[in-house]
Amino acid sequence: MQSKIEELKAQIAEGLAAVKDSKALYELKMKFLGRAGAITSLLKTMRDIPPEDRPLVGKQINALRESAELSFENAEEKIKEAELKVRYEKEKVDVTAPGKKAEVGALHPNTLVVNQLIDIFMGMGFEVFEGPEIENDYNNFTALNTPKDHPARDMQDTFYLSEDFLLRTQTSAGQIRVMKRQKPPIKILSPGKVFRSDDDATHSPMFSQTEGLVVDKGITLCDLQGSLEAFAKNIFSDNVKTRLRPSYFPFTEPSVEVDVSCFECGGKGCRLCKGTGWIEVLGGGIVNRHVLENCGIDPDEYTGFAFGIGVERIAMLKYGINNIKILFENDVRALKQFKD
Ligand code: DAH
Repeated sequence: MQSKIEELKAQIAEGLAAVKDSKALYELKMKFLGRAGAITSLLKTMRDIPPEDRPLVGKQINALRESAELSFENAEEKIKEAELKVRYEKEKVDVTAPGKKAEVGALHPNTLVVNQLIDIFMGMGFEVFEGPEIENDYNNFTALNTPKDHPARDMQDTFYLSEDFLLRTQTSAGQIRVMKRQKPPIKILSPGKVFRSDDDATHSPMFSQTEGLVVDKGITLCDLQGSLEAFAKNIFSDNVKTRLRPSYFPFTEPSVEVDVSCFECGGKGCRLCKGTGWIEVLGGGIVNRHVLENCGIDPDEYTGFAFGIGVERIAMLKYGINNIKILFENDVRALKQFKD
């Protein structure tokens, strides 16, 4: 028995010296101290030992078990510590390392312009109305005093979806929707995409407009000029002046084209204003009485003004973009340069 105990002791010491990780250690422990382990089995042999020898042998085996348990405990502690060290090393975070830069996006110049338009006109009491991109022919043309045979329809190459439905060619269609459901006073700003079958260096088949409409008692062209002057000063610079030039739109009478004095050269004449000192920024006018009538508004009681702003045009002027394609290619390197 004595030699058996010594042998087991030696085996344990040898095993512990070779063990490298906690899994192997556990397996080794089971080999000796597990339910079917060598020391446990040794205890079971006590039955075969003569009763008079039992106390001594029992003591010896118990001592072996206790010392084995202690050895395993010590080994376990050491291995766990070593393993933790390895883990910490592996999971080490260098807090001084430069961080990964989060890519922050930027708003598209069109969005910047529309946001500013909304800010400016909301400050004057306008509400935002968004009409649908698929419109009926009536709202887009007929009710805007542009019936089927009207030559002005040729000014806008239209994507027809059917005889009666089309992709709206102008946000002016929204004027009809608003006036049909709301009685004056009306003061709305209507931004949105419009579509025309046009595609060249300066035209895109999809572009953005922002429409304005005011209908109330006693509205005159002076109100239009005053509002648009405020808009121009706000969006370009305090020094710009505006001027109205006569123009033609079927839905306004009189119709005007609004120019701003060139904010690049101050009106002296440069490349931006093509030497004229003025830059055309939008169309507008006094709402044609037929349009009011088409919407059930009495033109003898109410008058109104309307205007339509080309958003890309304003963005290009404001941010010095010389090619409209930059606004449609969505190259982040270009887009992120533009801020309010
Ligand atoms: N709808 C016109 C266009 O697309 C722009 C416009 C002109 C809108 C005059 C208006 C307006 O409301 O009064 O060219």
